[in-house]
Amino acid sequence: MKEKLLVEFSKIFGGDGQAELFFSPGRVNLIGEHTDYNGGHVFPCALTIGTYGVVRKRADRKLRLYSMNFSGTGIWETSLDELTPCPEDRWTNYPKGVLWALQEKGYEVPFGFDLLVYGNIPNGSGLSSSASLEVLIGTIAKKFYGLDMLTMEEIAKIGQYSENHYNGVNCGIMDQFAVAMGKKNHAIYLDTATLEYEYAPLELGDARIVIACSNKKRGLADSAYNTRRSECETALQELQQVVKVDTLGDLSEEEFEQYKDAIKDPVRVRRARHAVYENQRTRKAAEALKKGDLAEFGRLMNESHVSLRDDYEVTGIELDTLAETAWEQPGVIGSRMTGAGFGGCTVSIVKNDAIDAFIENVGRKYESVIGYAADFYVVEAGDGARRLSK
Ligand code: GLA
Repeated sequence: MKEKLLVEFSKIFGGDGQAELFFSPGRVNLIGEHTDYNGGHVFPCALTIGTYGVVRKRADRKLRLYSMNFSGTGIWETSLDELTPCPEDRWTNYPKGVLWALQEKGYEVPFGFDLLVYGNIPNGSGLSSSASLEVLIGTIAKKFYGLDMLTMEEIAKIGQYSENHYNGVNCGIMDQFAVAMGKKNHAIYLDTATLEYEYAPLELGDARIVIACSNKKRGLADSAYNTRRSECETALQELQQVVKVDTLGDLSEEEFEQYKDAIKDPVRVRRARHAVYENQRTRKAAEALKKGDLAEFGRLMNESHVSLRDDYEVTGIELDTLAETAWEQPGVIGSRMTGAGFGGCTVSIVKNDAIDAFIENVGRKYESVIGYAADFYVVEAGDGARRLSK
């Protein structure tokens, strides 16, 4: 793979030798969905699939960007002095956004680069291909511009800042954090209010993580995402009239039930209920995993899906068909949608000896209900973004 990428780089950009190789993973969230912008907990892990970058410094301020995944569009050329976001610039808005964000934050970005990227995260799957690319650029910038003071956590925050202010998606910190801070065979139990985190060994015994990709294009997902976020913000303001809290993540289930009448709209009550209960579920799930109680972990995953389906309303028939069919299969410990929703993937924990039948049965049912096929991936938790040796 590395060799192939280096050869491809020379073919596209010419020259020899001095290119460097970087990798930034995708992520899957095990539980704690739509909690990260509500001051709650999340429990994601980085994957071993992700985005590779082959990159070489330039002496001028030009940026030349090429993606093997969109090779038809050729090299995109721009400059560090022309970093305005522009929909026609497609995927290059992510690298541009991070370089813009670095400068906004006062870091010096003195020269450009030639960059070839190749991603093996399924496209638009909700496994954070955009965060992966953002953190890849942050990791390259740290090395190239000698930004030693930039920790991987800072890089995650810069990625989120660029996504919020350059790419217009009001996302939380989970994706960039998981991608930047991932650790092989571990999930990250992160408190998004404080950014305190703990690595939790992913001891799944005789089971593995299986991702089912719905192949549903996410369409208007970004605007629906921003709507959910602002519904939660309004609900929080209403609750703050009657109880002293900084975020929805500060509330226990009991407190929420006590104060929920302050929320004036029934839809907002459901949105906030999801945020509060999902945060508590995530705390319980992390405890369960620590104790080796996988059955409880799986039960909480299933509950999470139901809450995302009924209260948060971000699943849709594709993700519901995948999760609900999974629940009926032998050897399934838990299954739920993962990521923002509205398409994308489910994550399931499935016993090794049941995986083949799981893929067969869920795949068949999905295709018969939805009319096109889902894709399945058995994945591993991997390390965070880094430079690779050649
Ligand atoms: C997207 C966002 C994250 C998070 C999830 C939902 O992946 O980028 O910040 O909000 O949706 O949990």
